[in-house]
Amino acid sequence: MRFTYSYATDIETLRKYKEETENALQTLVKGTGAGNDFLGWLGLPKDIRNQVSGIKMTAERLRKGCEVIVCVGIGGSYLGAKAVIDALQSSFAQLEAKTPQIVYAGNNIGEDYLYELQEMLRHKKFGIICISKSGTTTEPALAFRLLKQQLENQAGKEAARERIVCITDAKRGALRTLATNEGYDTYVIEDNIGGRFSVLSPVGLLPIACAGMDIDALLDGAEKMMDTCTTADFENNPALLYAAARNSLYRKGKKIELLVNFHPKLHYLSEWWKQLYGESEGKENKGIFPASADFTTDLHSMGQYVQEGERLLFETVISVEKPNNKVVVPTDAANLDGLNFLAGKRVDEVNKMAELGTRLAHIDGGVPNLLIEIPQLNEEAIGKLITFFETACGVSGYMLGVNPFNQPGVEAYKKNMFALLHKPGYEKETAAIKERISK
Ligand code: PA5
Repeated sequence: MRFTYSYATDIETLRKYKEETENALQTLVKGTGAGNDFLGWLGLPKDIRNQVSGIKMTAERLRKGCEVIVCVGIGGSYLGAKAVIDALQSSFAQLEAKTPQIVYAGNNIGEDYLYELQEMLRHKKFGIICISKSGTTTEPALAFRLLKQQLENQAGKEAARERIVCITDAKRGALRTLATNEGYDTYVIEDNIGGRFSVLSPVGLLPIACAGMDIDALLDGAEKMMDTCTTADFENNPALLYAAARNSLYRKGKKIELLVNFHPKLHYLSEWWKQLYGESEGKENKGIFPASADFTTDLHSMGQYVQEGERLLFETVISVEKPNNKVVVPTDAANLDGLNFLAGKRVDEVNKMAELGTRLAHIDGGVPNLLIEIPQLNEEAIGKLITFFETACGVSGYMLGVNPFNQPGVEAYKKNMFALLHKPGYEKETAAIKERISK
């Protein structure tokens, strides 16, 4: 992985942040800062290794026994798995005959979505991985209730038990109680690992293994990059340089970071990244707003704003050096589409020129550009990207002066929703919200 900042800033500017980033990194690795009871992710690539063979065995059982595996979870309890699976599997995996298919639920409350999911599963042999650290989150709890009943009705209680795995807190929460009572297989989310930092725990590893990916290689990449990001000196440390560059841009008024890819398979990696940075930094009325775009697709919708709209953006491009497959543009004797100038070129050559052309145009338009280059879309490269972004996020959060490991703001909507739904224990809030909306 290579990080390039020269189209956004220069080394003299970044050196001014050397001490600040190094101090923030020390705060992180020594565990002396706010939220230091949530630093378990720093050790995950190594610490989780003793669970890998068990995870693989569970994955194999589900793979053999299921045509479809439904991953139930929201936020950090599904985004990491979906990001890795989408980046590494075929874009058309859902249309292929290969099983198991991985689908998701509990990440929304759409009635049509749940209806259509249940219809699709009606004649399928399916299994469920239910993931919730708290074990009390409404969206996954609701989806799990529906799917558990459906599975028991379709397959019987015994077979359902074989095909349900729960990943949750060791002791607390409704999901733990339910899993214990029903005798389900479980994995633990350790207390010191928050949802958005949990992709390299069973939360991400089990679904990723179920999709047939090599979780050892993912962890190898993650471990190597974690070593670099926690030990290398400033000028050789991509996480420190990235944290320095983005904070320097933020302090100059660039309040929005647009994470950009030129491969649609990376769409959910951006979604994972948005949660990681948004929930970690967006507090106390501060923080870079993390946004994302898929290019060239979104150049035909968002490109105008990026080029000429308000100048509060900087862009971070994830560039993939080599595609995994080869497609060459054919010659056409009639050349009615005028594309013979591309004949004989690989499609990726066209994509790369679109990428370079876009970066240069946006730089000319006043959008500073950071570049992250990865060699290929494979497990090792994605593992490296994960620990690079996680470490840089912890450092950035401390530079901003916030606790990067809590998310107090997520509770506000839940309180209102529970009050509106008359959840027991919310009687006072129900009365207050009724009064408010009656005016
Ligand atoms: O990062 C976080 O902590 C959150 O996004 C959670 O992952 C999300 O709210 C789901 O919570 P839980 O796993 O407790 O159901």
